[in-house]
Amino acid sequence: MERTLIIFKPDAVQRMLVGRILARFEDKGLRIVGMKLQQSPRAQVEKHYEIHKDRPFYRQLVDFMAAGPVIVAALEGPAAISVVRNMLGATDGRQAAPGTIRGDFGLDKQYNLVHASDGPETAELELKLFFKPDELLSYRRAGDQWIASA
Ligand code: CMP
Repeated sequence: MERTLIIFKPDAVQRMLVGRILARFEDKGLRIVGMKLQQSPRAQVEKHYEIHKDRPFYRQLVDFMAAGPVIVAALEGPAAISVVRNMLGATDGRQAAPGTIRGDFGLDKQYNLVHASDGPETAELELKLFFKPDELLSYRRAGDQWIASA
């Protein structure tokens, strides 16, 4: 079992796509173990995207991510980190394959709707950055035994 952090970015909230995108993750069988709406403090966004701080788009990216409310969520499931990344598709919606979230809903590199952790170490750091320990729950759903066999 893995946990991954996703962020419905301000464009997803403003375009009222959160419900449709979240439904894809639920349909896949992933379990929501944390979720909240927030206006991200700039410092938190800067820390989250620290790895990109020398890239030319960094300042613009921080402005974008702090421009309006986002929904942060933690998803759990077998290989959740790579499963969710594959569901998102390529960073740029113009290149993302049809059938992926960005391929179906996006046309831009920056306004790409959802962020997801890219590996186990990043997932751990990002979950800690956005959630307090007691905001993440462990529970079983009635149908879980029919979603993953082991
Ligand atoms: P994300 O997966 O959240 O990780 C870094 C983000 O930076 C990315 O999604 C985009 O929103 C943004 N990004 C990546 N490349 C570019 C780019 N070339 N120009 C503008 N924004 C970008």
